[in-house]
Amino acid sequence: ESNSTDAAKRRAAVWAAAQIEDGMAVGLGTGSTSALVIEEVGRRVAEGLRIKAIATSEASQKLALEWKIPMSDFAHLPQLDMTIDGADEVQEGTLYLIKGHGGALLREKIVAMASKKLIIAVDPRKLVKTLGAVFALPVEVVPFGYETTIRRLEDLGFESELRVTDEGKPYVTDGQHYIVHCKLPQVGFDAYEAAAKLKGTVGVVEHGLFLGMASKVVIGGLEGIEVLEA
Ligand code: A5P
Repeated sequence: ESNSTDAAKRRAAVWAAAQIEDGMAVGLGTGSTSALVIEEVGRRVAEGLRIKAIATSEASQKLALEWKIPMSDFAHLPQLDMTIDGADEVQEGTLYLIKGHGGALLREKIVAMASKKLIIAVDPRKLVKTLGAVFALPVEVVPFGYETTIRRLEDLGFESELRVTDEGKPYVTDGQHYIVHCKLPQVGFDAYEAAAKLKGTVGVVEHGLFLGMASKVVIGGLEGIEVLEA
């Protein structure tokens, strides 16, 4: 990955982390941009910022503990003030997102739903005119009978493929599920209709369409940042 992309991610991450205020309950996202957010939050915590956080993946939990961020859980924090996460695609104009290529979409969605605000930090490559332009949509499915779930997703018009590891084994999520990558049709695509169809498919646990959820998207650039608001 280029240095300029890395610098863009860091700019977005630093701006997002600066939105956290003393005393907040914060959700921490997953992926390389979120790792930069966690680093920046860790730096602020070392300087005296008092927060409690919940992570969206085992990987982010581990990272947050390394940065000595006080971690909690939903038994102690029923609601979060703010979650900061990354995204794989952001649709210009709507702030609809595709998430889940880091394999964490289920926990990411649960944490986002429990947050008053969802701030998404990205680099400019993530902006698209229509969702699915670059990435397929990750859909988390139950391992049992996944072959039949994939067939039913295909019947709905989504070209579908099981996500596999480099060793060719099914990729397993933190929740012990599989991920299916669904191609989104680019012509006549209705995101809410697709979300409803996916949600209504037996065997599907959750999908990576985040619609009407992001409060702000911060895009890091070469010179500075741009903030899109819902
Ligand atoms: C994780 O499941 C995804 O939703 C991530 O937010 C996404 O993959 C972004 O990752 P990067 O910040 O590494 O691009």
